[in-house]
Amino acid sequence: MKQKFISIEQAMKKGKGRVAVRGWIYRERGSNKMKFIVLRDSTNIIQCVLEKEKFEKQWEEIDKLQVESSVEIYGEIKKDKRAPTGYEIGGSKINIIGEADEFPIQKDLNEELLGDRRHLWLRSQKMSAILKIRSTVFGALHGYFRSKGFYEFQSPAIIPGGAEEGPTLFEINYFGKKMYLTQTWQLYAEAAIYALEKVYCIAPSFRAEKSKTSRHLTEYWHTEMEVAWANLDDIMNYAEEMTRYVLTKVLEKNKKELEILERDIKKLQPSLNKKFPRITYDKALEILKKERGIKIKWGKDLRTVEEEKIMELYDTPVFVTHYPKEAMAFYKPRDKKNPKTARCFDMLAPEANGELVGGSERDINPEELKKSLKAKGEKLEDYSYYFDPLKYGAVPHGGYGLGTERLIKWICGLESIKDAIPFPRTVSRMKP
Ligand code: 4AD
Ligand code: MG
Repeated sequence: MKQKFISIEQAMKKGKGRVAVRGWIYRERGSNKMKFIVLRDSTNIIQCVLEKEKFEKQWEEIDKLQVESSVEIYGEIKKDKRAPTGYEIGGSKINIIGEADEFPIQKDLNEELLGDRRHLWLRSQKMSAILKIRSTVFGALHGYFRSKGFYEFQSPAIIPGGAEEGPTLFEINYFGKKMYLTQTWQLYAEAAIYALEKVYCIAPSFRAEKSKTSRHLTEYWHTEMEVAWANLDDIMNYAEEMTRYVLTKVLEKNKKELEILERDIKKLQPSLNKKFPRITYDKALEILKKERGIKIKWGKDLRTVEEEKIMELYDTPVFVTHYPKEAMAFYKPRDKKNPKTARCFDMLAPEANGELVGGSERDINPEELKKSLKAKGEKLEDYSYYFDPLKYGAVPHGGYGLGTERLIKWICGLESIKDAIPFPRTVSRMKP
């Protein structure tokens, strides 16, 4: 009778009797009587013991097995306190599926070499834990927006012109014409709200920023949403609820992974039930001056260091609203009561993780929009698709964008955003 393969996790749940498992060798050691194999699959690791006398014919092969070889093991599982995960399989049969060369990752490789061998490093406990959490985060984001009645809507990645300034565009040669890789889905989404009202998307955005920080990628997964009839408060409520929803899911599903990453989950807990404070840019400058002795000239966007200084005072994300209009992207509308400012926000994360979300109401006054675009040296023709919908029943609306890897970085407590994505792209890293 052929035994059906089960996962290592399932085998340990079963706890006794005959099992068949398969995976990769995580650790191995041996003597002339025994071979100890710690086997790894996507669910867990388990110790397997092969006794030489039961495997006389195969012993030479078994003895040579190296880390990362793939094998199928049949045997008897039982509790064993000394084994790394509390169970051991006494092997009765082994099939060697794929032999492994000497694995080129040892304990103390530096960042650069680990980056070069990323395709192999993904198998590490740390990376697997992050990738599982990342999967939960993506699932939760889709789940959140769908539960709120949003439609998933896609925009092109190849576009004729930009939306965000500061970060520059990646140029591509499009059959001899200059085109660009998208920085944001927003401008297309603003056309879609007239059909679907509530839309969202999770897709790559591209930023040709030369920033070599621990929170910048040149290609990142941008979670964006756009809502008809919504004002600034509505949009911030969504951002807050979404963040809490994702955190809750990760804490439900990924306790084990957070433990592997040695994440202090006490640092995440306040965000589960405390309301995220909302302060204005003016207030932020006041806090910087009073509490931190840093003087910022009114009108300047906040820099990373300043954001971090403010966040030292909080244990949940904080919304900073009403930034100076002139320092903002063209689509952020002027606040009527305080015309030097725009109706926008950044949601900053605690523990020096910086800006997680940027959002705003959208300007629906074509004259204001044209003025802002001209002031920024943009060609109005490139934006005709953006102005046109405003002629046919324009409504107030707004939305935001979340840097999905920044959220993952914060949740996992990672030092660098590079580890929040399987194959990072940065100024200096484009392979593998
Ligand atoms: O603040 P940003 O530039 O806003 C927009 O693109 C808007 N059009 C979004 C919208 O309203 N639909 O980018 C949004 C978020 C930032 O808050 C940040 O978390 C993330 O995208 N982000 C990056 N993440 C990783 N690497 C980069 N280089 C990033 N640039 C922005
Ligand atoms: Mg921003």
